Amino acid sequence: MSMQLVQTNQSRATGQPLHMDSKELHHHIHADFARLRQIAPVAPAYISRRQKAFLILRYEDCVNLLKGDQLIKNPKTAQASGGQGMPWMPKAFEPLLHNMLNTDDPDHRRLRNLVHKAFTPKIIADLAGRIEQIANELLDRALLESRVDLVQAYALPLPITVIAELVGIPAADRAQFRRWVQKIVVNPTPFNMALALPALWRLLRYFRQLADQRRRDPQDDLLTALVQAEDEGDHFTEDELLGMVFLLLVAGHETTVNLIANGTLALLSNPEQLTLWRESPALAESAVEELLRYDGPLMTTEFSFARTEMTLHGVTIPQGATVLPTLLSANRDEAVFANADRLDLARTPNRHLAFGHGIHYCLGAPLARLEGRIAFNVLLERAPNLQLAVAPERLEYKNIMILHALKELPVVL
Ligand code: HEM
Repeated sequence: MSMQLVQTNQSRATGQPLHMDSKELHHHIHADFARLRQIAPVAPAYISRRQKAFLILRYEDCVNLLKGDQLIKNPKTAQASGGQGMPWMPKAFEPLLHNMLNTDDPDHRRLRNLVHKAFTPKIIADLAGRIEQIANELLDRALLESRVDLVQAYALPLPITVIAELVGIPAADRAQFRRWVQKIVVNPTPFNMALALPALWRLLRYFRQLADQRRRDPQDDLLTALVQAEDEGDHFTEDELLGMVFLLLVAGHETTVNLIANGTLALLSNPEQLTLWRESPALAESAVEELLRYDGPLMTTEFSFARTEMTLHGVTIPQGATVLPTLLSANRDEAVFANADRLDLARTPNRHLAFGHGIHYCLGAPLARLEGRIAFNVLLERAPNLQLAVAPERLEYKNIMILHALKELPVVL
């Protein structure tokens, strides 16, 4: 994309560690990662002023670490072995950390088993009609305007509505719920965490009340299934229940939205590929995989930590240190993907890492893929003259660690 070429910063010029919380980083992220894959495939970086991490830039190294047992996810185990663990957060946030993504086996397996039955490809495929209906309703509204922010009008409400319905958040509460989540999902500095506290308390109180309601009055939704969950006699603790619901909803809020927004930008920046898709809608399956690879929703995996000291490409990573398999970089690795910087919607095979790899491989991948295919097919069909409404250099990215998320995507429909 042209905007990758326009900016420079000190890290790029001097080879100093990248600052992952820099607003500018996202504009030249693929060029920075390409350079690092060559000269520093294990690159020290700053997550914030105080928190350091090691970025793993090459595809093969990411796969090996994600499928092996050298990394752990539990921040408390990492801290106990001398690492920084998660950035500081108030105690009130702790229930939300009791989720499968921050847990290692055997707890991870127990938690994942409790929900994986709700996300099988068959169950998800049955949602196609409803997803299409939501996409069309959103576009009915958006098409009344000549210019819209595609993030707020389409890319965000589509996956949020789907996941909220699946979990069982009543329609009347969803706008309020979304405001709370937006206040909580911030870059985790102590200042931001403190600001997020009131929204967090309200959200936790809301979840507890809703779970109580489902205990008294079961419905056909995932929340009811969770409060009733018994997996080989294994009950959820209340914190685990809250952590699970929060994880599913945040995953529904913060990921697929970026697939749709980053993907639309990639298509508008590669008009010949956009035309190709319009001419052959059957391309949707490989096209969505390619958009996930080319400019995916997540910069890195969720925080991981070194189980023991290890050395990779001559760099010693201490026990407990934060290690971030860098998915955006792995997905542009020329050693695996020919012409990796080219968007090629027909690319096969396409073993990208946008959904991670190994035991924490994205549980929601079948849902995200289906949402992506439907969202793009409906958008391309109903907005034949789709165009960016601003120059690409003027687009801004959210400054939230691990995400690669546009703040807005103004388009003319
Ligand atoms: C395009 C959209 C999505 C992308 C790119 C994505 C990406 C990922 C990645 C990279 C991981 C692994 C993180 C790690 O190893 O630290 C992950 C895990 C997870 N994702 Fe997604 N995700 C997407 C959509 C969703 C949706 C819609 C859901 C909701 C149901 C979801 C639920 C989860 C869960 C529960 C995990 C944790 C799995 C585990 O720890 O075993 N994801 N996702």
